[in-house]
Amino acid sequence: MSSRPARVDVREVGPRDGLQNEAPVPVDQRVRLIDALSATGLRFIEAASFVSPTAIPPMAGAPEVMAGIRRRPGVVYSALVPNPKGAELATAAGADELELVVSASETHNQKNVRRSVADSLVGARDVVEIGHGAGLAVEAIVSTAFGCPYEGDVEPERVAQVAGHLLDAGADRLSFGDTTGMATPRRVDDLVDALERAGITSDRIGLHFHNTRGTALANVVSALDRGVTRFDASIGGLGGCPYAPGASGNAVTEDLVHMLDDMEIETGIDLDALVDCARLAQEIVGRELPSALLHAGARTRRYES
Ligand code: COA
Ligand code: ZN
Repeated sequence: MSSRPARVDVREVGPRDGLQNEAPVPVDQRVRLIDALSATGLRFIEAASFVSPTAIPPMAGAPEVMAGIRRRPGVVYSALVPNPKGAELATAAGADELELVVSASETHNQKNVRRSVADSLVGARDVVEIGHGAGLAVEAIVSTAFGCPYEGDVEPERVAQVAGHLLDAGADRLSFGDTTGMATPRRVDDLVDALERAGITSDRIGLHFHNTRGTALANVVSALDRGVTRFDASIGGLGGCPYAPGASGNAVTEDLVHMLDDMEIETGIDLDALVDCARLAQEIVGRELPSALLHAGARTRRYES
């Protein structure tokens, strides 16, 4: 029998990673989606990002989103931030947790946040200080962790090194972003190996996959085999990265939860409610989303093993 975890935490990132890559959606519709997601049993929702509205127009209005949502007890509403200013704004707006993003590759970091990786790492200390000062956990997200759209392969050792600096800066935990869907099960194993060699164990690792090349769920299974228990996904498969040419949607939340349910891995999430949210997400963006479950009609019935 496998030693896969009995329970995993799924973080919904559609309201941020998803919607940032769509034509701007009005604040009230973003709030509506987040409130619907809050009622599914999801315990972690990335609700907004506090970034330059010139850089990412669809994320404008983040304070209004945070103020408009109906907070459900037990749900953590996090915000992505690129720099100390974002951390100040997110904290003031009432985010429950901060996610600081730094790329493992120079070119992507330069395009994404207009500074070197070294400068982002210096800023990380300030972001942590601001977050901790307000009593918030600060997660560090290492993006381009499985490959960079500009530089190609990124050495797992390099990713582990950036991750180590972020922990040194005081980050409470880590996530690794497959910004452009370059990850495969082999790359997941290679990264987890490199992280282990650097003393970073699976309990401190979260993973964020994009399904650009159809590998997102295969990657999740590989990571489960390595004991990873935190995964990001976006409702309906909304998503991408505006500075990563060709990036498409995230791992699809309902497809992920469906698979985990059938593997008898607990998520605490109601799949039917999630599928309703995927329909709502489609309605809000006005286009068909890549969710497999939504289009398959019915989900498979679990047999007892
Ligand atoms: N939120 C909102 N505004 C911000 C900000 C933030 N986090 N950080 C800086 N700004 C504002 C500054 O106040 C300044 O405003 P002003 O011109 O009115 O004085 C302006 O943006 C320029 O500031 P500067 O520090 O020079 O930023 P920059 O132009 O070098 O851009 C970032 C740097 C990080 C703000 C920008 O590249 C960014 O927001 N990137 C995020 C990209 C992203 O979200 N990618 C997807 C997620 S991975
Ligand atoms: Zn992403």
